[in-house]
Amino acid sequence: MNAITLLKADHGNVEALFKELEALGRDGEPAEKRRILDRIIEQLSVHAAIEEQLLYPALREKLADDFPVLEALEEHHVAKVTLAELEKLPPTHERFDAKVMVLIESVRHHVEEEETALFDLLREHLKGTELDDLGTRMEAAKKTAPTRPHPMTPDQPPLQTLIAAPVAVLDRFITTGRKAVMDMMDARRKAS
Ligand SMILES: [Fe+2]
Ligand SMILES: [Fe+2]
Repeated sequence: MNAITLLKADHGNVEALFKELEALGRDGEPAEKRRILDRIIEQLSVHAAIEEQLLYPALREKLADDFPVLEALEEHHVAKVTLAELEKLPPTHERFDAKVMVLIESVRHHVEEEETALFDLLREHLKGTELDDLGTRMEAAKKTAPTRPHPMTPDQPPLQTLIAAPVAVLDRFITTGRKAVMDMMDARRKAS
């Protein structure tokens, strides 16, 4: 699969979840906010990991001036800090909606830069076959990517790649547990 097609599809899926959350509004049901936000956390964590592991290094290798990639890594870092805070913050907390709003604004900014400046650089420096190979490797890497934000762990290979797999195993355990608890609470709410 072409790398740009894959990344744009990921961006579109996250944007759809942002819109769902925005449509709920500040008065939305807290459990529903939590459910959507947990999906955002999972999708953004996987997406950030495959970009850091494969996309950014592939691009960096080709650039004489790799500042745009360094900027993207910093934007990922800031987003992960916010995601890590939101993971623990109850939707009823007075800071929740404001924090979500700032997250959405900053991710939208990052995605816009990626889809313009970075994708232009990708098209300029990588051949079609290289983009296809990169896309295939990113798709495969999703299966072992962390599903939770880890702002304090390395975000560049080789350490990022080494750490990603064991971290992802633990993440999936926690993410699955959280989903089971949410489903149970949902079922109880509906029954009452
Ligand atoms: Fe990114
Ligand atoms: Fe991205």
